[in-house]
Amino acid sequence: MVKSLVTGAAGFIASHLVESLLDAGEEVVAVDSLTDYYDVAQKRANLAGFGARRGVEVVTADVADPAVLDRVAQADVVYHLAGQPGVRLSWDRNFGAYVERNVDRTQQLLEAARSARVPRLVYASSSSVYGNQPSYPVDERALPAPFSPYGVTKLAAEHLCGLYAQNYGLGTVSLRFFTVYGPRQRPDMAFSRFIRSALAGRPLTITGDGTAIRDFTYVGDIVEALRAAGRADVAPGAVYNTCGTESIDVNGAIGLIAHHLGFTPAVERCGAVPGDVRRTGGSARLAEQDLGWTAEMTLAEGIGEQVAWERARSVG
Ligand code: UGA
Repeated sequence: MVKSLVTGAAGFIASHLVESLLDAGEEVVAVDSLTDYYDVAQKRANLAGFGARRGVEVVTADVADPAVLDRVAQADVVYHLAGQPGVRLSWDRNFGAYVERNVDRTQQLLEAARSARVPRLVYASSSSVYGNQPSYPVDERALPAPFSPYGVTKLAAEHLCGLYAQNYGLGTVSLRFFTVYGPRQRPDMAFSRFIRSALAGRPLTITGDGTAIRDFTYVGDIVEALRAAGRADVAPGAVYNTCGTESIDVNGAIGLIAHHLGFTPAVERCGAVPGDVRRTGGSARLAEQDLGWTAEMTLAEGIGEQVAWERARSVG
């Protein structure tokens, strides 16, 4: 039986991954330190969704805790999704937390995985490593040029994965996630904020003029990409874009949200925020070729899933 260890397991994406691994009959060690970057109650609710299931052990601890590092040694696959998220908040004094949680913790996990000879470590990288590029869609050969301190830390950790692969043969695979959305999305992200504001009768806040383009990717597709990366026979240190079925600007996404809400919410605009790129857009051709993965969920349908989840949550 495959034993997986998932970090950041109480979070948006990793909680879906844990459930999928348990559905497949795997044993899972689910690790999360429950940082207070956003409401811990939402993380606890995510944990409660799988905490009592057969095959899972929940460890509430930091990635660097000896109890976690000990368990790494027993894993066939480590999925490293823990970290400090949030592009726009990564400036100034906040930066220390990004370095500690995204760079230092990844290095500690890589050391543990290396000494235990863990066969596979899948790292949750980010489209933010690209920054603003001269042309789109970008593939993995584009020169990374992060535009936010957050992106710098995600790229640094991705490089660490690469150099542990090159120097020690550690089987790392980095997936560059492109703005993931769907049920349980982090409350600081655009779709969550838009839907929650609309349901509460408050105006949505658009940063800039709403023409920023994102390659939004449905969480269920990302879970499939993670699982494919966990089992694929690929060279250590591989890096893949995992992007969605289509790109759209923020104004267009709000139109789709309004359609599923059944009403047009009021909108306010504020200035552009430092660190926000104009556009993301990836080519997932390499992931298709090596991992047999492509995104399947259309944006219209995926947004409908998130609106339905937020609606149920707001009345429950
Ligand atoms: C997201 C995640 O937050 C990062 O953790 C991840 O690494 C990144 O995607 C990525 O793909 O690499 P972001 O694209 O900023 O970052 O995602 P959202 O928070 O959903 O923002 C999407 C767009 O909506 C941005 O242009 C943002 O400025 C805008 N926005 C956000 C608003 O107009 N209003 C809001 O209230 C929030």
